[in-house]
Amino acid sequence: MAYHITKAVIPAAGLGTRFLPATKAIPKEMLPVVDKPAIQYVVEEAVRAGVPDILTITGRSKAALEDHFDRHWELERALEKKGDEKRLKRVRKSNDLGDVHFVRQGEPKGLGHAVLIGKNHVGDEPFAVLLGDDLIDEGDHLLEEMIEAQLKHGGSVVALMEVPAEQINLYGCAEVEQIDGETSGVVRVKGLVEKPSPEEAPSNLAIIGRYVLDPSIFAVLEKTEPGRGGEIQLTDALAERASATGEGAGVIGVVFRGSRYDTGDRLDYLKAVVRLGTRHNEFGSDF
Ligand code: G1P
Repeated sequence: MAYHITKAVIPAAGLGTRFLPATKAIPKEMLPVVDKPAIQYVVEEAVRAGVPDILTITGRSKAALEDHFDRHWELERALEKKGDEKRLKRVRKSNDLGDVHFVRQGEPKGLGHAVLIGKNHVGDEPFAVLLGDDLIDEGDHLLEEMIEAQLKHGGSVVALMEVPAEQINLYGCAEVEQIDGETSGVVRVKGLVEKPSPEEAPSNLAIIGRYVLDPSIFAVLEKTEPGRGGEIQLTDALAERASATGEGAGVIGVVFRGSRYDTGDRLDYLKAVVRLGTRHNEFGSDF
């Protein structure tokens, strides 16, 4: 389906410290989930939602990401020679996905800073942000729903998910209210706070790694002071948008009730491999 959003930013500059030593020499986004690196699922999700132009924000030692989405002539030629059409198709799929661009963050100054790096590429239109290590089940249509909500309500949109109270300190947390005439899954965000303690948290609704942002976020990010952890937080800039009025202001939350895996977390990663493995069309039932 064709939507009004054509560009996505995928921040993928994080060090992956939760997964050491596996991520010492390879980026966490390249860890295989069944037979594809985690980042390929994220790029495929954007393309499925009709967003073909993808800017990946990387950092040092992330060259494998660029190689993965580039052509590999030697490999293709070797497979062609062998007549191995099946594997050839799989290899080609990873570089035929969309228009994947790369830029480096330079300094690790936080998620808000990473998104700001996309300013020139994105220009003056709403755009999607997909965090490179959050995997959303293929059967769910979260990004499409968020893009529709942005079209209907304007402003910016965040994906929210209920989490146990003792885990809210790992996420951005939203204070929300119902919107008259909307389904219960689409809410107005009144306030946002990055990684609050359970006592400070206004709800158990956590921001998960999908956003559709109004371009006015860039001017706000430019002025956002370092927040939690000394980093420029996207959540803080969105909190400003939630309380502001005028062009491009306002934040909507789309509450997600499907399956999401944080592939940067060892337990969640294993769950993703098992669940997706059991559904694999070739060997799912054996597995
Ligand atoms: C980031 C955001 C946070 C959000 C989370 C989702 O945190 O800052 O608001 O809830 O992603 O995965 P990080 O996981 O990078 O610490």
